[in-house]
Amino acid sequence: MTHPIRRAPVPRPGPGRRRRRAASLGAALAALTLGLAGQFTAHPAAAAENHVDNPFAGASFYVNPDYTAHVRTSAAQTSDPGLRAKMRKVGRYPTAVWLDRIAAIGGGGEAAGRRSLADHLDLALAQKRRGQPITATFVVYDLPGRDCAAQASSGELPLTQAGLDRYEREYVDAIANVFKKRKYRDIRITAVIEPDSLPNLATNTADPECARAKSSGIYVKGIRYALDKLHALPNVYTYLDFANSGWLGWDGNLAQSVQLYTDVAQGTAAGPASVDGLVTNVSNYMPLEEPFLTDPDRTVGGNPVKSSTFYAWNPDFDESDFTRDVHRALVAAGWPASTGMVVDTSRNGWGGPGRPTAESTSTALDTYVAESRVDRRTYRGLWCNVGGAGLGRPPQAAPSGYPDSHLDAFLWVKPPGESDGASTDVPNDEGKAADPMCDPGYAPPGAGGNKTGALPGAPLAGQWFPEQFAMLVKNAHPAVRPGGGTDH
Ligand code: BGC
Repeated sequence: MTHPIRRAPVPRPGPGRRRRRAASLGAALAALTLGLAGQFTAHPAAAAENHVDNPFAGASFYVNPDYTAHVRTSAAQTSDPGLRAKMRKVGRYPTAVWLDRIAAIGGGGEAAGRRSLADHLDLALAQKRRGQPITATFVVYDLPGRDCAAQASSGELPLTQAGLDRYEREYVDAIANVFKKRKYRDIRITAVIEPDSLPNLATNTADPECARAKSSGIYVKGIRYALDKLHALPNVYTYLDFANSGWLGWDGNLAQSVQLYTDVAQGTAAGPASVDGLVTNVSNYMPLEEPFLTDPDRTVGGNPVKSSTFYAWNPDFDESDFTRDVHRALVAAGWPASTGMVVDTSRNGWGGPGRPTAESTSTALDTYVAESRVDRRTYRGLWCNVGGAGLGRPPQAAPSGYPDSHLDAFLWVKPPGESDGASTDVPNDEGKAADPMCDPGYAPPGAGGNKTGALPGAPLAGQWFPEQFAMLVKNAHPAVRPGGGTDH
């Protein structure tokens, strides 16, 4: 995963308004096809639920026992009883399951510590309460040439036509073949599609690998293929990753991205109806809200807050602003107002001891911003195992308080406690490599001479990192309340 800040040129004017085909018609046709293809019954599609606007509303969330097991191990090794109780509570929270390689679909069996996709769906059925829908979220993350602007999460498939063929047949088709099993039709399956990929095409083509990902058309073809296959299943809900406020918040980047996403969606069989929503902040640390910095145009010392070094003229200080602006821009480009937004709140709480409790009174702009912001990073482009971070809002359907953001849910897409990447080469068969952004001693360009602030000793991306997990639980905001029941 990478989340660099790059400013893009102002793009050409966006396309005009276009009509979307009603999602329900597509869903009904797909349900019929599925019903006929599946086991024979007298009323093939009758029992299947219609495709709903917000799959999370009124639903429970699948809790991944593999995640619970990691947390239990950490809790068992924690001597502080208060922290241990908090950890145990977090272990019962729902998190997304990342299908981060072809082998993740088949799983390694319980002994190998990893369940298959079918195992997860069987467990979701077992967790489903009678009369209440259940959602289960999977991250589709194996594009050829994955993570083109970084090394930490490079993938197994090369950026070639052969890589794309494998992606389509052995990965997307294999996932769709499990999702479409008749016994899973009552699970609302949500698919988070390819974090960072389209944002990298929108802003990072100065990187040669991203430039090739774009010029070859491989990212776009792979994503359209995934959307076509997944949208065809009426109980599957597709959410395209839309980076975060600190990446695409600048007006130029936002306009350019909306144009790209619109073009990608229009090139699918169902057009924009194949996208149910967008998800932001996946694996990032952008706060949901900067409570003391609410107006980017407010002046301090004669200059607008957004012109501070930290915000660098980006008017979106947090994900509630960003999702509002993304939704507004998408609708202006012809997307339906029903397009839902989701925010990954797994690690954006910033409740540590350095959290400010009031707005700064300084009249020096950068000091004012540094003393007022809850985001304690020295630079917004830092993304790897960030020190000082904490858990954010628990997963929740249809959260209130941000009506302009059109939020379908807060989700924990990145399972908190799983590493963002390692700074040294660790032999592996997943394509992952050492990334300087994960090195605590590295001062990245753009960070004003500051070092990354990454936690030392991190394992490979995706692997359990006990020190990070303990830190996130301690710094949670809101604080974890053991014994307070589940918050979702
Ligand atoms: C890694 C994946 C992992 C995911 C969730 C990504 O950065 O590349 O392997 O599944 O994070 O932890």
